[in-house]
Amino acid sequence: MTFVVTENCIKCKYTDCVDACPVDCFYEGPNFLVIHPDECIDCDACTPVCPAKAIYRDTDLPVNMGHFLELNEELSRQWPSITDSKNPLADAAAWDGMAGKLTHLER
Ligand code: SF4
Ligand code: F3S
Repeated sequence: MTFVVTENCIKCKYTDCVDACPVDCFYEGPNFLVIHPDECIDCDACTPVCPAKAIYRDTDLPVNMGHFLELNEELSRQWPSITDSKNPLADAAAWDGMAGKLTHLER
């Protein structure tokens, strides 16, 4: 099992999740964070602190977010680790909850 970051993180990247994670398994891209599935210990500490409510247990993923499991696995093997929170992206509040953000994912 693992937890998965989904679409509403894109262009928000609040990073509160990073400080909550006891095993530093978040990885950072330009406008999205992902979780390394082999490092996540399924503690559920990150889910409640995400202001965008973007994190799900893999078994609880909404049907339309299923592809984010593979995306987290793929990108966590490419992107650098992030271990400290930082300021959200500019306009994070405006993008929070917007539909169709996957098209804005930067790799
Ligand atoms: Fe880190 Fe726990 Fe969240 Fe997994 S469930 S990403 S170990 S805080
Ligand atoms: Fe993204 Fe939520 Fe973390 S918006 S960076 S998953 S706190």
